[in-house]
Amino acid sequence: MAEAHPDIESILLSEEEIKEIVARMGKEITRDYADKNPLVIAVLRGAVVFMADVMRAITCPMSVDFMAVSSYADGVKSSGVVRIVKDLDTKIEGRNVLIVEDILDSGLTLSYLMRMLQSRNPASIEIAAFVVKDIEGKKPAVEPRYVGAHVPNAFVVGYGLDYAERYRNLPYLGILKPSVYE
Ligand code: IMP
Repeated sequence: MAEAHPDIESILLSEEEIKEIVARMGKEITRDYADKNPLVIAVLRGAVVFMADVMRAITCPMSVDFMAVSSYADGVKSSGVVRIVKDLDTKIEGRNVLIVEDILDSGLTLSYLMRMLQSRNPASIEIAAFVVKDIEGKKPAVEPRYVGAHVPNAFVVGYGLDYAERYRNLPYLGILKPSVYE
């Protein structure tokens, strides 16, 4: 396994573990959407790495589109304020929509997005989250249908996830050393 970046405290999911998770999720999604021609939506920018992998693990017909929202402004805490930076190019009325997300923390971002997309009358709308952050005594505002893994309540980076736009290119998911952002 590759040596961890010096700013990484510990590796939570290695490249090999991620491969297995993505393969499993691809199978689950393919099974459920075999004849539904889903529109798979990734939320930029964090979800692109997971999207690129999971779409190749889905073997039924599907199409993709992208959205960009901003909720974390270069920081580490969820603000609950969500702004649509880029909307979809595809009409979703009557479509089976699957939102692919990198990480579910408070779930506020997705809860807002789900409400907005629901108002466009899709046939269905579900979430596939690569990881869900476990916060004791707190449930995220939305419930993903597909979950890759659970991670502890720490700030994680890599595999698409950033801190101030850095670390997205790390091939694994790791906990960022608090000294980097404190
Ligand atoms: P939520 O609205 O609290 O669920 O936050 C969702 C978004 O916040 C994710 O799509 C990420 O962009 C970002 N985020 C939440 N937790 C982390 C983290 O540990 N590392 C990097 N980004 C995070």
